[in-house]
Amino acid sequence: MTDVLRVAGLTVDIPNRDGVAVRVLHDVDFTVGHGEIVGVVGESGSGKTMLMRSVVDILPETAIRTWTACEVDGVDRTTRSRGDRLPVSMIFQDPMTSLNPVRRIGYHLVEVIRRFQGVTGGRARQLGIEALDQVGIDDPARRFRQYPHELSGGMRQRVMIAMALLAKPSLLIADEPTTALDVTVQAQILDLITDLRREARLAVALVTHDLGVVAGTCDRVAVMCRGRVVEVGTTDEIFYDPQHPYTRALLAAAPGTEAAGGSLTVSGGVASEWVDASAVRVQHSTTHASLVPAEVAP
Ligand SMILES: Nc1ncnc2c1ncn2[C@@H]1O[C@H](COP(=O)(O)OP(=O)(O)OP(=O)(O)O)[C@@H](O)[C@H]1O
Ligand SMILES: [Mg+2]
Repeated sequence: MTDVLRVAGLTVDIPNRDGVAVRVLHDVDFTVGHGEIVGVVGESGSGKTMLMRSVVDILPETAIRTWTACEVDGVDRTTRSRGDRLPVSMIFQDPMTSLNPVRRIGYHLVEVIRRFQGVTGGRARQLGIEALDQVGIDDPARRFRQYPHELSGGMRQRVMIAMALLAKPSLLIADEPTTALDVTVQAQILDLITDLRREARLAVALVTHDLGVVAGTCDRVAVMCRGRVVEVGTTDEIFYDPQHPYTRALLAAAPGTEAAGGSLTVSGGVASEWVDASAVRVQHSTTHASLVPAEVAP
């Protein structure tokens, strides 16, 4: 079976103010299978967002991206031109920044329906209200008429998920979708994502700082450090049999995984210690990545 998303050999350079290219992603391979939720974890600045932005073509303007493969639903997307519609939707940490404060919720939904489904008028309104209902918003007809600031953070994130789904994606990319929410609401949003995966056979790439979120939600995990994917494995493999020293350091540094919302930081420059010298090469497989120290690699 083909993956929903397959990225290989992805490298991204961004020139700094002096015009010197800074490599923010190094030869990254990443896949998401059908109906799978893949977590992407790593410290702040490790390249999680850049990886996702590479996929949906929203890198900073000056960024230079190269890759050996980018396939979505088995179709090569390395040569797509701007404006090609990808069956991928992305939601972000703060839904308020993605919603126009002077427009009602319904306006946002109807826009997406018009654009992606070519439906307008009363039928679009009906689809919009159904979409709110589908993501668990009570009294959807009333919410449809309200402004973003009249909704709670959790409700706004549900609206973003509803908008993302209306584009009928094969893959949902969620970049820290619950970081701004309190723990109870966070759990509800993650339940919603898990339900959607099951009901709609949606594939999900879930970026998070939070190993508790990963443990409760993801099938597989990619661990990123300094622009590299240093380990990939099933969630159980990552938690119970981590292979890469950096993964072990992350697990050791994580606040109790019960404590949802704890952020992931390894103290004392561990990242550079493990990865700077490219001491470890990751060979991806569909199961656990195997790790080959550079010295002994062929
Ligand atoms: N707009 C930008 N222009 C130049 N460099 C950037 C830009 N955005 C991010 N970077 C750099 O790219 C690298 C990866 O950043 P990225 O945002 O992908 O990290 P992240 O893992 O998502 O971190 P966080 O957990 O804080 O969201 C960092 O070194 C960062 O400084
Ligand atoms: Mg980020």
